[in-house]
Amino acid sequence: ELTFKDAFEGKFLVGTALNVEQVAGNEPKAIEIAKKHFNSAVAENCMKMENIHPEEDIFFWDEADAFVEFAEKNNMHIVGHTLVWHSQAAPWIFVDENGEDVSREVLIERMKHHIQTIVGRYKGRVDGWDVVNEAIEGDGSWRESKWYQIIGPEYIELAFQFAQEADPEAELYYNDYGVSGKAKCDGIYDLVSNLLEKGVKVDGIGLQGHLNFDIPLISEMGASIEKLSSLGVNLMVTELDMTIVPWPSDEVTAEVSLNYELSKEYDPYSEGLPDSVYQEVMDRYTGFFEMFLRHHEKITRVTFWGVHDGNSWRNDWPIEGRTDFPLLFDRNYQMKEGVENILEMA
Ligand code: XIL
Repeated sequence: ELTFKDAFEGKFLVGTALNVEQVAGNEPKAIEIAKKHFNSAVAENCMKMENIHPEEDIFFWDEADAFVEFAEKNNMHIVGHTLVWHSQAAPWIFVDENGEDVSREVLIERMKHHIQTIVGRYKGRVDGWDVVNEAIEGDGSWRESKWYQIIGPEYIELAFQFAQEADPEAELYYNDYGVSGKAKCDGIYDLVSNLLEKGVKVDGIGLQGHLNFDIPLISEMGASIEKLSSLGVNLMVTELDMTIVPWPSDEVTAEVSLNYELSKEYDPYSEGLPDSVYQEVMDRYTGFFEMFLRHHEKITRVTFWGVHDGNSWRNDWPIEGRTDFPLLFDRNYQMKEGVENILEMA
């Protein structure tokens, strides 16, 4: 029987995100799939600042330790996600005791302590870190996050520098979504190219693969892979999934997200996916993997954002209670029909 990791052996690693329930052993069937099919793992949430470093003096290690131990025990390549991000950051880090923004110096010190404590703890065990996540906007400009506002653009090079000091052997990545968009891709190209020119150690760029049913085009993502590979760093397709449920329009989002009954109207597939749609999804997934294979010399890893449809974050985002079908294993822990073709192609 073909598995993802065997099929793509010698081309790129194939990974999955794991959540804490899975790592804790509460979902043995998901774990069975993870062990059988994937040779790389990333923690879905437990290494994010709000979880691992919720207060200045509190590091909560239990879940991250369990994740790293699990992945080691199963000989998986391990990715730490993520050190510096505007989202799921712990709010304390940006403010003083009066609730005012801290100074640049203080935030740099706090960021250094955050990064070095975590990277230092897993030194030699975590193979690569998503050091900075989602710093560039769709138009290629810098996201005006608290990190940017308080420290300025140097926060990125400092983050990479601190991570390198804590574990010189670990690979260090910049990770972002929407990289298939040309303006954003150019912005990321400039960012990483400047970092490299300054001698900052950046080993790779993660292109989040949160795909929609219709966008991006496979060729758009392929063009971004070509462009970014000219920087000479490794590329990874991270966070791969494909949302099938249509995106709600802006006007309905707020209301619908508060109203589960109403949200069903915007979830045409709550009873299951019609065959024709299913086929299109599989064709589209196959097309992406064809493209990844064409570029396999530039791509070191492809990681799915979750093991199976049942506990993908896409079910609840942007609206609570959606039923989505974004992954290649179904709610009954079965590999979906048609996935064999993807594996045979490799
Ligand atoms: C998501 C998780 O899957 C959810 O469980 C959580 O509630 C929100 O974050 N980009 C990222 C990931 O880099 O960390 C996000 O993960 C999805 C978007």
